[in-house]
Amino acid sequence: MEKIVVKGGKPLCGEVTVSGAKNAAVAIIPAAILVDGVCTIENVPNIKDVQVIVKILEYLGASVTYLDSYTLQIDSRNVKKDSAPHDLMRKMRASYYLLGALLGRFCKANVTMPGGCYFGTRPIDQHIKGFEALGAVVRQDGGVIVVEAEKLCGTNIYLDTVSVGATINIILAAALAEGTTTIENVAKEPHIVDLANFLNAMGANIKGAGTDVIRIKGVSKLSGGTYSIIPDQIEAGTFMVAAAATGGNVLVKNIIPKHMESVSAKLTEVGAKVTVFDDSIRVEGGSGHSGANIKTLPYPGFPTDMQPQIVCLLSVASGNSIVTEGVWDNRFQYVGELLRMGANIRVEGKTAFITGVSHLAGAPVRATDLRGGAGMVIAGLMAKGTTEITDIEHIDRGYENMVEKFKALGADICRVSE
Ligand code: EPZ
Repeated sequence: MEKIVVKGGKPLCGEVTVSGAKNAAVAIIPAAILVDGVCTIENVPNIKDVQVIVKILEYLGASVTYLDSYTLQIDSRNVKKDSAPHDLMRKMRASYYLLGALLGRFCKANVTMPGGCYFGTRPIDQHIKGFEALGAVVRQDGGVIVVEAEKLCGTNIYLDTVSVGATINIILAAALAEGTTTIENVAKEPHIVDLANFLNAMGANIKGAGTDVIRIKGVSKLSGGTYSIIPDQIEAGTFMVAAAATGGNVLVKNIIPKHMESVSAKLTEVGAKVTVFDDSIRVEGGSGHSGANIKTLPYPGFPTDMQPQIVCLLSVASGNSIVTEGVWDNRFQYVGELLRMGANIRVEGKTAFITGVSHLAGAPVRATDLRGGAGMVIAGLMAKGTTEITDIEHIDRGYENMVEKFKALGADICRVSE
């Protein structure tokens, strides 16, 4: 097992290039199952979650080749199986996209309930509602979900909760269905638009991604093609917050600044200087930040996946801050670790009340989940003394070369064997 060791107190300076978006890649790679041809997918991030989803596709019979470190070629024409292996499925949340993709391809899917970060119960009732509306029968047997249909027919679906996963799964199931599917109250995250753009590049007819209503005219076949995944909005935000938190000066490159608006606005509000260019953003931290109130919301609101990182920054901002989690029931597990570093935070239900302290002190802490782990790295970069972060497999699931990227910005950070 490895851990990350950070000696804090150095302002981050320089340039960092953001990788392809994890949450787009883990949807687009399974979507290749629907394609009757060869897909070339560029800007694929080199992270554990991608490795797992690639292994699942290979198990199903797809031929997957890396043309270079970031370009995947997938040929799913030989996929015959409609069920995915239990041990791989449980390694990540996005494995549930196999449900929509296999259902769309074979009118049948048989997959294990997915794993991933624990934020309280993570129901999939809206995914099931969508599949049933398209004509499928859904059974849950122990930890396995079986979805079957004679055929899938377009219909109108209203999501009771704005769900990224349900929106994506229903798009996958409907892309080849007969007739038109309209999904209302959908999620608008950039990776949903990216998935729709990928499928359209392969011949699908999907309109409205990025708005509240998506319309999918089923097509009889998707053919191959080439597509490049968007930059990772959350990795970009993590570096932006880290730059501000350490009082540094960092140019975050290869991003879509529009996707960063809520993060840029909050960083400006707490006193950082944010300069936006065409495909990069410079963040200058200055000395000291003021507290702020934040509520996480579906896109274009402040992302829940940036909540731990910004709470770490606010833990040393002057005055009081209130951060309310508006997406998940329970996403403050990492706060216990931050308290070990001297933060003054009280969590009541879905709200964290933060009183800024003068500094954090290095301590042994755990990455409780992917973004909580990113928060611990930021806390370590800000803290006086040495922070040792264990359970870093969570971080490796979603950040490519995080340690190397921070090191290149001047951080005193390394991975060591425990
Ligand atoms: C996606 O998870 C992301 N994961 C998460 O990022 C992210 O936190 C989340 O969207 C919200 O932005 C991937 O894209 C792989 P949801 P997902 O369905 O799709 C409730 C990260 O750190 N809900 O939008 O699982 C649910 O309980 C990860 O990269 C239902 O009630 O999230 C939650 O409260 C962590 N019924 C809310 O909706 C359902 O059927 C949003 O969940 C589905 C969801």
